[in-house]
Amino acid sequence: MIRILTIESTCDETAAAVIGEDRQVLGAVVASQESLHERFRGVVPEVAARQHVQAMLPVIDLALAQAQCRPTDLSAVAVANTPGLAGSLLVGVSAAKALALAWDLPLISLNHLHAHVYACRIAAGVEVFPCVGFIVSGGHSNFYRCSDPLHFEYLGGTIDDAAGEAFDKVAAMLGLGFPGGPAISRAALAGDPQAFAFPRPFTQRDDPLKFSFSGLKTAVRYALYGQGRPEMDPQSLPATLVADVAASFQQAAIDCLVAKCCQAVEMTGLMTLCVGGGVAANRLLREQLQTAMDQRQVTLWIAPPELCTDNAVMGAIALEKFRAGAFAPLSLDIQPGLERQ
Ligand code: KG4
Ligand code: ZN
Repeated sequence: MIRILTIESTCDETAAAVIGEDRQVLGAVVASQESLHERFRGVVPEVAARQHVQAMLPVIDLALAQAQCRPTDLSAVAVANTPGLAGSLLVGVSAAKALALAWDLPLISLNHLHAHVYACRIAAGVEVFPCVGFIVSGGHSNFYRCSDPLHFEYLGGTIDDAAGEAFDKVAAMLGLGFPGGPAISRAALAGDPQAFAFPRPFTQRDDPLKFSFSGLKTAVRYALYGQGRPEMDPQSLPATLVADVAASFQQAAIDCLVAKCCQAVEMTGLMTLCVGGGVAANRLLREQLQTAMDQRQVTLWIAPPELCTDNAVMGAIALEKFRAGAFAPLSLDIQPGLERQ
C-alpha cells in the first residue's frame, strides 16, 4: 500500500498531508500564518520562515496522527522545493530531507505550481490530462500545456504582478484586510462593477498569453487620489467609493483572466482547462469562467476553494512521480525562482 507524506512550505502556510495510493487524503493539516502577516499587509519572508520552523514538526505529527500512520507505514516523503520564498522553502526541504534520511524513505521533489494544477485532478476523480493548466495565485499567473502529470510546458503568464498580488495591493489601497482577494470580493458585493472603466491590458486576441496587472493597480490609485497626488489614509475613503472601486477592479481583473483562458484553449486546441491557486477561489471568476468554457464546450475543472490556497493535499502529484520512479537525491536544494517548466 502506497502512503506518501507531503510537505508544503513555499510561502506562508505550513502544511503536511498523508496521501493514499488512490489519492485518498488520509491526513491533512494546514497552519496558516495569515494573522501574523496581516498587520504588514503582505507576507514578510523572515517572519514566514521563522513561523515555519515552529510549526513544521507539529503539523507533520498531526497529519500522521490523523492518518494513523507510523513512519514505517510510509512509502516516501515529498516536498515542494520550487518556486517560493527561499527561507520558507528551506524549512520544508530540510524537514523532508531529514525525515527521508532518518526513516530511510525515498525523497520526491515537487513543483508547487504543478501541484496547484493537480488539485483539480484530485477533486475531479477522473483523468483531466492532457489539459491547459492555469495557476492564478499570489505569486503567479501562469499557463501550461500539461501533456500528462509529469510534463508541463510553460506557455505564458504575467510580465509584472501576479493576479493575487494585485488583489492584495488594491485591498491595501482601499484599507481592506489581508489577504486582499476575499476582502475585495466582500467589499465588491455592495459596489457597481461598471463605476470605473479600468484597463484590461493584453486582452486583444493577437497578444500572446501575457498578463500585466501593474497598470490596473496604478489606475485604481489614480481613481482614488488623482494623478500625482499623495495617498490619504484609506480609512477616510467613502464606503461607496471603496465598494465601487473594489467591484470595478475585480471585474477588470476577471475579464483579463477569462479572456486569456479562452485564448489559451484556442491556441492549444486542448479541450480541458484546469485552474488552481488562491485567486481561483474567487466566486465571480469561477462563474464567469464556467460560462466562457461552456460556450466553447471546454471541460473546466477548478480546484475546490479549500484546495485553491496553499495546502499539502495537492502534493498528491507525488504519487505520479513515485510510480515513475522519479526520486530526488538527498542533496536536493531549493529553487526559489521559477524555472519555466
Ligand atoms: O495560492 P495561494 O494561497 O498562495 C500563493 O501560492 O501565492 O494564493 C494566495 C492569493 C492571495 O493573493 C489572495 O489574495 C488570493 O490568493 N485570493 C483570492 C481569493 N482568495 C484568495 N483572490 C481573489 N478572490 C478570492 N476569493
Ligand atoms: Zn500557491
